[in-house]
Amino acid sequence: MESGWLGENLLWVLRERLQLSGSKNACEQGECGSCSVLVDGELVCSCLVLAGSAVGSEITTVEGLDDGGLTDVQEAFLAEGAVQCGFCTPGLVMAVHDLLERDPTPDPLTLREAISGNLCRCTGYGRIFAAAEATIRARSGD
Ligand code: FES
Repeated sequence: MESGWLGENLLWVLRERLQLSGSKNACEQGECGSCSVLVDGELVCSCLVLAGSAVGSEITTVEGLDDGGLTDVQEAFLAEGAVQCGFCTPGLVMAVHDLLERDPTPDPLTLREAISGNLCRCTGYGRIFAAAEATIRARSGD
């Protein structure tokens, strides 16, 4: 592998060096959430993280949520029609997954706040909320 450049961001390393293309490259300004990953358990926009600063950290991408199949959040996104072009989906899945790990039964305002950093141009968000709420119901046995 060619040597890295000190200015490489984590998103670029994930996508271009490691071929983990689940995290999407869109605004490159931390505004859209499409590149969201977990770094040591904290949800961040990987476009804003210097790759060098993440050395030694545990990084979870959307690919890392996969335990051999789709996660319940991903299944709910498909079942509820929350995926249109799909560009925003990995980031939203990461955000919903992160929220439900911290708060298994968030109220609607908390859910909206949790995904407020993720832009979706297609769905109008209604189906995304429905998918998250379906996951919450399924996990709580309702
Ligand atoms: Fe297209 Fe969200 S489904 S941007």
